[in-house]
Amino acid sequence: MVGTWTLGEVGSARDTARETARAITPRLELEGRLIAVSNRVARPSATTSPGGLAQALGDALHVRGGTWIGWSGNLVADAASAEFDLLAEGEIVYGLLDLPAEDFQGFYEGYANGVLWPVFHGRPDLSVHEAGDYAAYQAVNRAFADAIARVAGRDDTIWVHDYHFLPLGGLLRERGIPSCVGLFLHIPFPHTGVFRTIPEAEAIARAMMGYDTIGVQTTRDARNLAETLAAMGEGTLLRRGEGYEVFVFGEHVRIMPLPIGIDVAGLRDVVSAPPPAAVSSFCRTLGGRRSLIGIDRLDYSKGLPQKLQGFYRYLQTDPRRADKVVMTQIAPISRGTVPAYEKTRREVEAIAGGIAGEFTSLTHNPLNFLTRAVDRATVAHLMARADVGLVTPIADGMNLVAKEFVAVQDPADPGVLILSEFAGAAEAMTSALLVNPHDIEAVAAAIETALAMPREQRRERHFSLMEVIHDTDISRWTERCLTELATAAD
Ligand code: G6P
Repeated sequence: MVGTWTLGEVGSARDTARETARAITPRLELEGRLIAVSNRVARPSATTSPGGLAQALGDALHVRGGTWIGWSGNLVADAASAEFDLLAEGEIVYGLLDLPAEDFQGFYEGYANGVLWPVFHGRPDLSVHEAGDYAAYQAVNRAFADAIARVAGRDDTIWVHDYHFLPLGGLLRERGIPSCVGLFLHIPFPHTGVFRTIPEAEAIARAMMGYDTIGVQTTRDARNLAETLAAMGEGTLLRRGEGYEVFVFGEHVRIMPLPIGIDVAGLRDVVSAPPPAAVSSFCRTLGGRRSLIGIDRLDYSKGLPQKLQGFYRYLQTDPRRADKVVMTQIAPISRGTVPAYEKTRREVEAIAGGIAGEFTSLTHNPLNFLTRAVDRATVAHLMARADVGLVTPIADGMNLVAKEFVAVQDPADPGVLILSEFAGAAEAMTSALLVNPHDIEAVAAAIETALAMPREQRRERHFSLMEVIHDTDISRWTERCLTELATAAD
C-alpha cells in the first residue's frame, strides 16, 4: 500500500495523493496520465472473475498502464470513516475507495441496478423507484469525484466507465478539474421514449453533458444517445464520422461508437495451457456426445429462459436427441438481492428442472446447470471444446462471451456461435447464426443447424468472425478510445 486518506481529509492530503499517484503511474503517450474509473476493479491478485467490464478494462490498463479508481469492496458506517487507498500492482496503481453501506445500497442495488440497468436494457417495467436511491447514487458519485480530484493533475485524462457514473463528468467540472473527461457506456442506450420513463431523466441528461466525449458499443446506441440528449434539451445534433456532436444545455459532447473486444492473445494463452482436471474429466463423460455451452451472469437481460426453452424445444422435437447432446449452462448468481433477479432465477431453475425431469435417464443428463462462479481457465477450456456456443440476450451492450467463444475455437474444426440479434456483438458478427431469442422455435432450429453444419461452412464463418475479433482486440479498442479522448481534449 502506498497511501491512505479518509474522505474527510483535504488540502495537503490531496497534494500528497496526487504526487504519489503521479510518481508511481507510468507515463503514457497521452500528455498526462490515464485515470480509469469504474465501480469494480479487477486486481491481478483477485481469483474470481469480476465480470466483463472489469476484465476488459484490466486487460486494457495492463497494455497501457495507468491509475484505476474504483470501489474497494469495503462498506463502512459513514462517509467520515471511508478510506481511499492507493496501491501499486504491476503497471497499474489502484485507487480504492470505501463506501458508506447505506449509500452503497441505494446507489448499486437501488438506482444503478434497480432503475438504470432495466431501463437501459429496454425493461422499464422492471424498474423500481425507491425514495432516497437517486440521492444515494448522487452521493456515491460525489464521493468518487472527490477521490478523483485528489489524484488528477491538469494534463491527465479521466476515462469513466459505465452507468454507475453517468453524472461524474459534470461533478468533476464543478470541482474545477481541467482534465479531459470521457465516459464509456458498456451497456445499451435506449430509445428516447424509454429513457424518459426515468423520473430523473433530464437531470441525468444534463449531467452527461459534462463529459467531453462519450463512447458507446454500437451505432444504434450512438444514435439513441445523441437523439435523446438533443431531444431532452431541444438542442442540435450533427453527424461526425460514425458518431455525433450534440449541442444542448449550453454544452457540447461528442458521441462515438467504439465496440469493445477481448484480449485475444491472452485468451489463446489460457487455452494453450493444459486444461484443468475438471475439464478433462468432463470431456471423458461426454463419451462422443455433442457439447453446447452458455456462459452468462444470471440476469434477466441475458435471455436465459429463452435459451433453455429453445434447448427444451430442440429435445422435445425428437426425444432421442437427449442422449446425443450435453448442454452446459454456467449462470453465476448476480445482484441476487434485487427482486427482478430473484424472479429470473426461479424462472430459469423451473425450466432447467423441467428439462432434467423429462430427459434425464439413469445414465445421462443432457443439461448441466450451474449457478456458481467458475474460474476463467475452466470456462475458456470448456468453450474451446464445445460444438455450439449459445449467446441469446434480449438486450446486451456488447457481450464479450460471444467474442471469447469464437477466439478459443480451433480454426481447423471450429464450433458454431448462435448469437442473439439483440447483442451489441451482432452488429459486426454477422457470420454467427443470428437468432431472435423471443422466437423459441428459431432457437431450437438454430441448434439443429449448428450441430449439422459442415466443417467447410464452419471454417468460413469462423474466419470472418475472427476478423471482427482481431479488429476489436482490446489493445486496438484502448487505442481508439484514447485517440478519441486525446482529440476531444484538443
Ligand atoms: C456488466 C456491467 C458492468 C458490471 C458487470 C458485473 O458487464 O456493464 O458494469 O460490473 O456487468 O455486474 P456487477 O453488478 O456484479 O458489477
